[in-house]
Amino acid sequence: MSVKPKILVTSAAGKSGMQTALQLLGKGYPVRSFVRRNDHRAKHLAEAGAEIFLGDQYTLADMRQAMAGVQRAYHCAPTAPNGLHFGTVFAVAAHENRIEHVVTLSQWLAHPGHPSVFTREVHLNNAVLGMMSDTTVTEVNVGWFADNYFMVLEPAAQLGLLTMPLGNGDEKKNAPPSNEDIAAVNVGALIDPASHAGKTYRPTGPDLLSPNDIARTLTKVLGRKVKYQDISEAMFLKALTALRPPNYSEAALTQLRLYTEEYRRGAFAVGGPTDAVARVGGRAPEGFEIIARRVVAERPEAVRTFANKMRALRNFMKIALTPKPDADEIETRLGHVLIPSSAYCGESLDWLSSHGADPADLAA
Ligand SMILES: NC(=O)c1ccc[n+]([C@@H]2O[C@H](COP(=O)([O-])OP(=O)(O)OC[C@H]3O[C@@H](n4cnc5c(N)ncnc54)[C@H](OP(=O)(O)O)[C@@H]3O)[C@@H](O)[C@H]2O)c1
Repeated sequence: MSVKPKILVTSAAGKSGMQTALQLLGKGYPVRSFVRRNDHRAKHLAEAGAEIFLGDQYTLADMRQAMAGVQRAYHCAPTAPNGLHFGTVFAVAAHENRIEHVVTLSQWLAHPGHPSVFTREVHLNNAVLGMMSDTTVTEVNVGWFADNYFMVLEPAAQLGLLTMPLGNGDEKKNAPPSNEDIAAVNVGALIDPASHAGKTYRPTGPDLLSPNDIARTLTKVLGRKVKYQDISEAMFLKALTALRPPNYSEAALTQLRLYTEEYRRGAFAVGGPTDAVARVGGRAPEGFEIIARRVVAERPEAVRTFANKMRALRNFMKIALTPKPDADEIETRLGHVLIPSSAYCGESLDWLSSHGADPADLAA
C-alpha cells in the first residue's frame, strides 16, 4: 500500500487555507496545518484530522519545524506587510527540508512593476520559489475572490445597499471564484505534481458578472431588494478605516484601493472565466448564487433584525464621521517600497503579453 505524502498548509485558518486543508483531509492525505491561534478554527481542523502546528509563519525557526517530515506544501502569504519576509522564510525552510512540490497562491495582477507593493512581493516570491532546484511549483493565480463582496454583506442585508467602488454597474468585470473552488485547484495540484508542476492556473467562477448581477443575486438570496451603489475611493477608504475588516492592517487598506482600481479598469475580466476549477480541481465551479447562499446562512450580520439594522445604520454614521485617510501618506509613513515607473496591468506590456490580454479590453 502506498503511503500518501504529508502536506503542510500555511495560513490554514484563512479563506483558502482552511478549505485546502479540509479537502486534502477528505481525500485521505495527512495534513499539517500552520495556524497562529489555538481557536475554534484550529479545533475544527483538528477534528477533521489535521495535525495542528501553532506558530508564527514569519519566523524561520517555526517554519523549519513546521516543514520537518513534510513532502509537499501550500504557500499562502497573508494579505499583510512583509510578504517578502514570509516568502523567504518559506523558501529557506522548503529548500532545507527538500520539499518536493509547492502550490503557491499567487495573484492574477502580479507583475514586477505593479503599483501595489504586496503584488510586487507576490511576483518576487514566485520568482524565488521558481529558483529552487529540488522543488517543483504550481502557481494558482487568483483574481478577485467571491468572498470580497461579503465585506459589505451587512449593508446589503440590513439596508439593501451593495456599496463598493467597482465602477459602472452594468460592466461584467469579474468571474468570482469561491474559496472552495480555489482550494479544489490547490488540492488538484498538490496531490498530482507530475501533471501540474511548472503550470499556472487561474480558478474562476463560471460566469463573468457585473456589480448589478452581484446585487441581483443578493436580492434573490437575501429576499430583499439590494441595489449596487458605486462609491468613491475616498468613501471606500473611510469605510475600511471605520470598520476595519478582520485581518486587514492599515497597510492592507492602501493595497485594496489599488485592487479596486484594477477592478474598475477591467483587469479581472481579462481571460475569464476559465476552466481551471473543472480541469484541475475536478469539479464544476460554483456560481455566485451558491456561494452567496452558503455565506448568508453562516453570517449573523445577514439576519434581518431590528438590532442588526440599527448597527448597520450606526456603522454608516461612523463611516460618514471618519476622516478620509491619506493612503499615499500611509504608504510613505509605513516605508513601503514605491517605484516611480509603476504601471497598472493594462499599462504594462509585460503583463498584457503574459496574460493574453488585448489592451483595447482594458480602460486606460
Ligand atoms: N482576496 C483576494 O481577492 C485575493 C486575490 C488574489 C490573491 N489573493 C492572495 O490571497 C492571499 C491570502 O489568502 P487567503 O485570503 O486565503 O488568506 P487569509 O484568509 O487572509 O488568511 C491568512 C491567514 O494567515 C494567518 N496569519 C497571519 N499572520 C500569521 C503569522 N505570523 N503566523 C501564522 N499565521 C498567520 C491569519 O491568521 P488569523 O486569521 O488567526 O489572523 C489568517 O488565518 C494573499 O497572498 C493574497 O495576495 C487574494
